Amino acid sequence: MLTASMTLDPAFRIAPVHRRTFGSFVEHMGRCVYTGIYEPGHPTADADGFRRDVADLVRELGVTTVRYPGGNFVSGYRWEDGVGPKDRRPVRRDLAWHSTETNQFGLDEFIRWARTLGIEPMMALNLGTRGLQEAVDLLEYANHPGGTHLSDLRVANGSPEPHGIRMWCLGNELDGPWQTGHKTAREYGRLAAETAAAMRASDPGLELVACGSSNSAMPTFGAWEAEVLELAYDSVDYISLHAYYQEHDGDLASFLASTADMDHFIESVVATADAVRARLKRTKRIQLSFDEWNVWYQSRFHDAGPPADWPIAPRVIEDRYNVADAVVVGNMLISLLRHGDRVTAASQAQLVNVIAPIMTEPGGPAWRQTIFHPFALTAATAAGQVLRVEPDAPLQETARYGEVPVIDAVATHDPDNDQAAVFVVNRSTTEQVALGIDLRGLDAHGVADCRTLSDDDAYAANTAEAPDRVVPRPNRDIRLQDGRLTVVLPPVSWTVIRLALATEPA
Ligand code: AHR
Repeated sequence: MLTASMTLDPAFRIAPVHRRTFGSFVEHMGRCVYTGIYEPGHPTADADGFRRDVADLVRELGVTTVRYPGGNFVSGYRWEDGVGPKDRRPVRRDLAWHSTETNQFGLDEFIRWARTLGIEPMMALNLGTRGLQEAVDLLEYANHPGGTHLSDLRVANGSPEPHGIRMWCLGNELDGPWQTGHKTAREYGRLAAETAAAMRASDPGLELVACGSSNSAMPTFGAWEAEVLELAYDSVDYISLHAYYQEHDGDLASFLASTADMDHFIESVVATADAVRARLKRTKRIQLSFDEWNVWYQSRFHDAGPPADWPIAPRVIEDRYNVADAVVVGNMLISLLRHGDRVTAASQAQLVNVIAPIMTEPGGPAWRQTIFHPFALTAATAAGQVLRVEPDAPLQETARYGEVPVIDAVATHDPDNDQAAVFVVNRSTTEQVALGIDLRGLDAHGVADCRTLSDDDAYAANTAEAPDRVVPRPNRDIRLQDGRLTVVLPPVSWTVIRLALATEPA
């Protein structure tokens, strides 16, 4: 058994736990919307056609924000197609995913669904085939109280109250040659700045996200962020990041170390944004919106190629997740929390069926994939302040990232509720780790709960027939004595420990 140690100290605060860290993403892609969140005629559907079984799982997942309606889809989307009487909405081809879009679900349905679940909407704009005018039109339709053409149209369409959408993404992945309306950084930076200025003229309180790079391997990564921010620094609040990871060629050790790349990506974007800040002599800091992140077996998707027959809601990138995938997802949440001084919003991509924690069958059940569990438990447990921890752990050699510590962890401290929590992964592919945690600075008087997600088979997954094959289980291999905690972490595992703290005497 390997050994590792770390210390928790309430003085080592990084940032508050931002609730927007636990965001998700609904794109008109595959079966995320149709037969995902929306399926009129399903036995659990409500009067609006929203699946109640899915809604219950979304609630349990603890999702706080949802980005909508894309993704690559948004770069060819006309939002007007998705509002008004459903029998008059046009059916169109979606160039991004080679599908047929029926437009039976659109903005007003999305807002109704999100509000019912207490979810904050985060709206993406089409800056691919469209531009500034359509963006301000959509803003008027969505947020203006009434008395103008477009706001009155919303009222006539059955939404008397303004939608009050605060967060807006200025396009999607426009650095990518695959994107409809792909642009140079200069073209995009100008468009983002102009669109942002026009939107702010209507509502200065909006929070606006400029597109960063589609991933850190893009040839323009770094230069794109710098040029876009040079042009749009004063007009935007956020720059976006997207990252997907997968196991390549059976290299589990590298896959488990994926956050080595994620950490580096985040820190590089922070450095780039701050360099522009220095050059422009500004005091404002740009925040990071990690608005697409997940495990995605992209190689399988590219091998399949686009469908030739323009199907409606086809099964696209419905990855089935295993234990190792869940450990990486838990580790990605650790990375996002650890960077909470700059990453203040994030969206796991996507929510249902499409690379998703929740799966459904049309007319049938909904169930939790393995990756559901670390997300739900982190969202439910992380509270108060994020604490920096520096594990002292053995190193594991990886082909992609060199030597990485087998342990990665973050902690949170919520003094108002006398609670603290530790989130930790064991990235060793073979060895248990006995982790010692010095808690003397926290006055912990007990372990309220300790749960570990692991399995003898790192590739075990959940299915419709066996939906609970992989779930986090109580970890009883944990001791707390004299402020020192020891817990045994199985190989390829994710663990959450909830600590009960002594209340200060009055
Ligand atoms: O989430 C799937 C796709 O991945 C999104 O549409 C796009 O933005 C990204 O490349």
